[in-house]
Amino acid sequence: MPSVASVEEIRTHFPALARRHNGHPVAYFDGPGGTQVPRAVTDAVSDYLLNHNANTHWEFPSSRETDAAIAAARAALADWVGAEPEEIVFGANMTTLTFHLGRALGRTFGPGDVILITELDHHANADTWRALARERGLEVRTVRLRTEDGRLDEEDLARKLTHGVRLFAFGAASNALGTVSDVARLSAQAHAVGALAFVDAVHYASHQMCDVRAWDCDFLACSAYKFYGPHVGVLWGRRALLAGLEPPKLAPAADSVPEKLETGTLSHEGIVGAGAAVDFLAALSRAAAPRRERLRQVSRELHARGAELVGKLWHGLAALRGVTLYGPPPGSERTATLVFTVAGQESAAVARHLAGRGVFVSNGDFYATTVARVYGREQDGFVRAGCAAYTTSDEVERLLAAVRELTA
Ligand SMILES: Cc1ncc(COP(=O)(O)O)c(C=O)c1O
Repeated sequence: MPSVASVEEIRTHFPALARRHNGHPVAYFDGPGGTQVPRAVTDAVSDYLLNHNANTHWEFPSSRETDAAIAAARAALADWVGAEPEEIVFGANMTTLTFHLGRALGRTFGPGDVILITELDHHANADTWRALARERGLEVRTVRLRTEDGRLDEEDLARKLTHGVRLFAFGAASNALGTVSDVARLSAQAHAVGALAFVDAVHYASHQMCDVRAWDCDFLACSAYKFYGPHVGVLWGRRALLAGLEPPKLAPAADSVPEKLETGTLSHEGIVGAGAAVDFLAALSRAAAPRRERLRQVSRELHARGAELVGKLWHGLAALRGVTLYGPPPGSERTATLVFTVAGQESAAVARHLAGRGVFVSNGDFYATTVARVYGREQDGFVRAGCAAYTTSDEVERLLAAVRELTA
């Protein structure tokens, strides 16, 4: 028996896959914008709301159960990124958590300090830091993106990552091009000049396993709705760094880590669902091993399946006249997400045509606005297709057939 559930078995967990549109079964290639959700996650969310719903830290059972459920979710997310539960901060989404972290970190930054960002990143990992720079009088430098292969320009990085940089904010993977960056190396380069390393793992986490200890980064953010969970953001920070932060907070709110970074009443049901998403993924492994080990095994297998699917998609699209592909080709370090354009067709028109065939893809710049500008696609953006755990080879063929109709 294979050690990780087959795609057919995985699909049985997702009621959304039964949807039909225009007489076609729906093929969801919109995972990079948010994946579908398995029944185990919605069951956990509704069980919490129906049977345990309360505010935290009181003496009655449903409040105690709420505390326990949040603690269990912290432990699950800690296994997800390779950290300790006390280092996991929950929030509305990655963007909100990053603004909040920026406000807290910014209290220790001042004029003359530099924040380094990149052209490859989603604007949640650029404008958040630009806003902080405006408030604190900081300098922002931006590492260039190489259009030849969709990767960061190493020479430009070496020029810009100098003493005086307090924070290097970079992505583990690009939500537009699918480029995977070498997080361990970039973190080490940041530390070599005394800078902190902040990693946006929102796109990466849905495709590969995060490992904050092996990467030796300082902060990392991801979002559960990209890995089969509800709309909840997750921030990890080294415990000592979190403890030293002074985030804006209400006087009566907890001063302890990680709670002091969590503002107001959180989405308890969302947090429970995020934990359930991690458990769902771990349960795809049949190994009798600790959760993190099972997650590692599942992630490795899903990554290999995704690489095969994206390779087929890339080569199939490349064979069509008038289709242009962007970013790193298959076989290099990348996720199972790609972007393309069709000559003479607006990206929105391509996405509409595919939707008519039951193939759901996204279009635009996906807030990777700088990536679109660098490739001269600021007006129309790209068409984006992402393969998820439930994507099949047949669905890839259906996508290719629908694009072929436009190019014939
Ligand atoms: C790479 C990347 N970073 C950040 C974000 C923003 O995440 P959130 O919607 O949780 O704020 C996204 C969302 O698409 C993303 O893909």
